Amino acid sequence: MNTALFISKESNKTIEKATYTWQTPSNIALVKYWGKSNPQIPKNASISFTLNNCHTITTIEFLKIEKSSEAKFELFFEGKKKDDFKPKIAEFFKRIEKYCPYILEYKMVISSENSFPHSSGIASSASGMSAIAMCLLNLEKELNSDLTDEFINKKASFLARLGSGSASRSIEGPLVVWGEHPEIEGSSDLFGVKFPYKIHPIFENYCDTILLVDKGEKQVSSTVGHNLMHNHPYAEQRFTQANENLSKISTILQNGDIKEFINLVESEALTLHAMMLTSNPYFILMKPNTLEVINKIWEYRAQNNSNICFTLDAGANVHVLYPNTEKTEVESFIKNTLTVYCQKNQYICDNTGFGAKPN
Ligand code: DP6
Repeated sequence: MNTALFISKESNKTIEKATYTWQTPSNIALVKYWGKSNPQIPKNASISFTLNNCHTITTIEFLKIEKSSEAKFELFFEGKKKDDFKPKIAEFFKRIEKYCPYILEYKMVISSENSFPHSSGIASSASGMSAIAMCLLNLEKELNSDLTDEFINKKASFLARLGSGSASRSIEGPLVVWGEHPEIEGSSDLFGVKFPYKIHPIFENYCDTILLVDKGEKQVSSTVGHNLMHNHPYAEQRFTQANENLSKISTILQNGDIKEFINLVESEALTLHAMMLTSNPYFILMKPNTLEVINKIWEYRAQNNSNICFTLDAGANVHVLYPNTEKTEVESFIKNTLTVYCQKNQYICDNTGFGAKPN
């Protein structure tokens, strides 16, 4: 697809000053994105549940200035100036200035806060980058009133992807596919699209309880991990498998075969970590308690004929997934049996949500 579509049109309107606030969620991948080429093009298609309670709220104040050669901005996180986040955002603005040249004509004051505790091991790049993208699109819409909501979501996802790949899946919900796939109508490597088929009721309002097994800084960032997929001995098989898993999960999400869902989702999580174990240099992001939790989940599932399962992102925390109809029993199992494996017994109860909201 032609990226020229995303270059904003010149506007004859002048806006001297504007402030926009957006809330955008985190997401948890069911089929994982792990491996990319430039510029932020995924090696395989991925799909995620959009979360609801885990979100970022970002306000951007725009003040018109003389056109500058690079984006001018200040950054506040939870009320405090946060200069150590600046290089990542500066790089993001550099990548998107071709598509949003108006950012060079404003001084931007960005203030952000997360609903989840900072350094909880929950990736904030997906919600953080998508929230900035929505604020920019809000200004773009004011400058160019003919933009449709459909285009706004597409471009916001396109921009967010250039900040962090998984952020492209945080604009809409409850299920978003990113990456071109023959069986997903409208899918693209450039932006996320809402899963285009009817979802079986068992997957509606799905629950995700995030167990904070390890809240420390990861030893290996996702960016480094993605890079290690270049020259990885199993990379090609992995990319093929992920695309096949996307076909399978598309059918499962429509027909409600939850046993197949559990099998596929857990296999994806373990395969992601298997890629890390077999990288060179190799690394391990799971912790002993990650494995304890997984074993307890398997035991509980076998004994109670439950549909509980787990997934992992690039870290030690465990996402416990279960249908809303099993909420009461599973939540008491989590409280009674799993929280002892969490740092300070901390966990976050979440469920699927619908994406970005103005605030
Ligand atoms: C394991 O989106 O954080 O969570 O594009 O380098 O910012 P960058 O990577 P990022 O990678 C996420 C990896 C994952 C799987 C997933 O969300 O699909």
